[in-house]
Amino acid sequence: MKKFYLTTAIDYVNGAPHIGHAYEKILTDIIARHYTQRCDDVYFLTGTDEHGIKIQKTAAKKGISPKQLCDENSQKFKDAWKALDIDYTKFIRTTDEDHEKIVQKIFDKLLKKGDIYKHSYEGLYCTGCECFLNPKDLTEDGLCPDHLKKPEVVKEENYFFKLTKYKDTIIKHIKEHPDFIVPEFRANEVIKQLEDIQDISVSRAKSNVKWGIDVLSDIEQSIYVWIDALSNYITALGYDTENPSENFKKYWPADVHVIGKDILKFHSIYWPAFLLALDLPLPKHIFAHGWITIDESKMSKSLGNVISPTSVLESFNLEHPDAFRYYMATSAPCGRDGNYSDEDFKEKVNAHLANSMGNLLNRTLSMLVKYFDGEVKPEFKLSGHPELVSGSEKLQKKALGTIQIVKNHFDNFEIAEAGLEITSLVDAANKYVQDNVPWTLAKEGKLTECGQVLVCVLDVMCIIASLIYPYCPNIASDMAKQLSFDLKTKLDDLTSDNVKCGQLISKENIKPVFLRLDSELADKSTKKGA
Ligand code: ME8
Ligand code: MG
Repeated sequence: MKKFYLTTAIDYVNGAPHIGHAYEKILTDIIARHYTQRCDDVYFLTGTDEHGIKIQKTAAKKGISPKQLCDENSQKFKDAWKALDIDYTKFIRTTDEDHEKIVQKIFDKLLKKGDIYKHSYEGLYCTGCECFLNPKDLTEDGLCPDHLKKPEVVKEENYFFKLTKYKDTIIKHIKEHPDFIVPEFRANEVIKQLEDIQDISVSRAKSNVKWGIDVLSDIEQSIYVWIDALSNYITALGYDTENPSENFKKYWPADVHVIGKDILKFHSIYWPAFLLALDLPLPKHIFAHGWITIDESKMSKSLGNVISPTSVLESFNLEHPDAFRYYMATSAPCGRDGNYSDEDFKEKVNAHLANSMGNLLNRTLSMLVKYFDGEVKPEFKLSGHPELVSGSEKLQKKALGTIQIVKNHFDNFEIAEAGLEITSLVDAANKYVQDNVPWTLAKEGKLTECGQVLVCVLDVMCIIASLIYPYCPNIASDMAKQLSFDLKTKLDDLTSDNVKCGQLISKENIKPVFLRLDSELADKSTKKGA
């Protein structure tokens, strides 16, 4: 069996989760569930990033200890992921004791190797980014371009990492592996940044940054939060500088790190350099998704437009997160920015999930009950039939073809694109029903043809349930139940003949799998939660 190891960024716990954080976890969960359908042994890691000056300052402002802030907020992330059915294998916190110990050993190893050295330094530090900025990257007013805040002047004796030593190897790796950075158009940006890269500071004076992991051999210094944070991808598996665990050997290198475009530099430059310094293989892919805006504006505390994912579920009275998952996952093409609006959310999920997909299943099963008491007769099956109802073969071919297209999209992390292919298959099935008018066939006494049309759609519906499962696990499970279809069927085992002959369903067991969102638009003020 092939393994598949995937990770999300670990979120800072200086606030509660918002729908940008949720977007990333939903994408990753969908990828994880998809690969589970391809026979892979999937390991899905997520967690929270809990050290650094940003957390220290937020805690101080609130008058609580950093540890208390971390405990409270980390739990909020866990709760949110539970509400969104994010089915991770492990949730790591960078304050976990075993993580802290290994980070100290990693730092120590690089120090002994000579890749880390001590150096006096003066630079401009952005707390938002948790990194020193290059003066030439600031805005005209001298602000951090991402956080629009003035960086602090920091003058300290720090430890430095020899990033320049690995520069050429990383450039070569990116050029030789065009799918290392996904989407590919971001690779050029990274190569440009690499060209004038400097060694980086990898520690802060304890007197300035108390909330951090101590350098083992020098307790006056805290280990830089990005070394601490990035290492989570290996410490979570049980990496150890001397004796890596079996689990680590099994899952490393990562198949994909899913991250936002704002932290690509850390993942495609710093992280590969640290790994090279540790003599470890590089991850196969780094997938940088775009950013989510709200009603086309950047989400920000000062604008007061930050939306928490659970508040969306609550305000639309959603029983399960499927609609929100589907909407977020299809909100932007691979790597591009997406937008959330209540209006658009309602419109899209009503159209795709209720009107097209849910309704099709409901109508087809209802007709099967009305005309045939819910029984699938052998002569309704298309296999071996000399005369097929027009368009049947075409629809079956499209359904089987869609499985392959969806797999190809997932290989390129094109989650929205794959989702839209599924919707297009639903549309084709709807058109097939419209073209063949099974209710007229029944009226005219052409019962075998009528049964054929219904069963052809139900067979395709099994494929649709399977393909939509990663996005909408609850809806898919309800669909599968009504189709007596085993949702654990691997994608490669799907055929055009998925529904069994015999009694399929009775009237009482037909239920809409998704109800239209017709509630009045929720009051926005109830939606601020982050
Ligand atoms: O960067 N839309 O944490 P973070 C989409 N701790 N994604 C968004 C977003 C938005 N509006 N806002 C944030 C950190 N994100 C570090 C990561 S990894 C070893 C350490 C994404 O809480 C962001 O791009 O600021 C990142 O991938 C993740 O949420 C966590 O952001
Ligand atoms: Mg951030």
